[in-house]
Amino acid sequence: MNARFPQVRPRRLRRTGAMRRMVAGTRPHPADLILPVFVKEGIAEPQPVASMPGVVQHTRESLRKAAHEAAEAGVGGIMLFGIPAYKDARGSAADDPDGIVQVALRDIAGEVGDSLVVMTDTCLDEYTDHGHCGLLTDSGEVDNDATLERYAAAAVAQAAAGAQMVAPSGMMDGQVAAIRAALDANGFADIPIMAYSAKYASAFYGPFRDAAECAPQFGDRAAYQQDPAGPVGEALREVRLDLAEGADAVMVKPALAYLDVLRQVRDLVDVPVAAYQVSGEYAMVEAAAANGWIDRERIIMESLVAIRRAGADLILTYWATEVARRLS
Ligand code: PBG
Repeated sequence: MNARFPQVRPRRLRRTGAMRRMVAGTRPHPADLILPVFVKEGIAEPQPVASMPGVVQHTRESLRKAAHEAAEAGVGGIMLFGIPAYKDARGSAADDPDGIVQVALRDIAGEVGDSLVVMTDTCLDEYTDHGHCGLLTDSGEVDNDATLERYAAAAVAQAAAGAQMVAPSGMMDGQVAAIRAALDANGFADIPIMAYSAKYASAFYGPFRDAAECAPQFGDRAAYQQDPAGPVGEALREVRLDLAEGADAVMVKPALAYLDVLRQVRDLVDVPVAAYQVSGEYAMVEAAAANGWIDRERIIMESLVAIRRAGADLILTYWATEVARRLS
């Protein structure tokens, strides 16, 4: 006679692929994905980023193509980062109507702007010669309040060039309010703000600094980005402040090492929550996969599922187009 136990058998729902597919609780969708892209001024050919195999610094033309491919794959949005030919202390190219991001926005916003959301990173580090995210005081500190005016001007220039959403990433206090006021005053009341609200001073950004050519020339970003070991309440406070200042969506960054923060933010707010799977997360997987040490496709999907399960509605990932194709 058969044993009467185990009476409870969770494995029943795992036995076949069809069963697992039916009961799956987390299903990443192409439209949840946002593709970060780099566009560089004054280059004739796309330049590979050594520490991010598969990622390039785009020319205007190759960016156009990448935007079309993302749209075709059903990706939800594209986030532009610009690398200007000339940098100065105030990051002049950030709000120059002929700056590289503004030019690139005009190239693609009209072409793909109905099929995916064209958005911009609003910050100064890609544009300053010193590589910090804001203006510096004489003693070399980042001047919070003076920087706000630069962010406001950059956001208005981006919106004027066709950005459909702006994403301030500099972690200055009051940046969302300053940008909201400037957008509203310049006829862009309809342009939403996705705030990089809980952004940590992370070593996972290493490869990005090659891609965007924005490594700080001295010091680091620890005086404005959050301490990974800081109180979790600090992240929630930043999120609350950004919402009070008018943020339409919030972000946690990096993603995989901060899933606990992501979950707490998700439980706190009623706006869309994004998570940024950053350059170092990408590079680690590509490097291990190139060595044959991990199953690249499975790791990518598993990490995206984990980020979704932790509460992200939107995921910024350099694999967006590839994954979107695989999902559809
Ligand atoms: C700042 C910005 C950074 C990233 C996105 N926006 C760099 C930083 O804060 O140092 C990093 C993204 C990545 O690592 O993929 N403009």
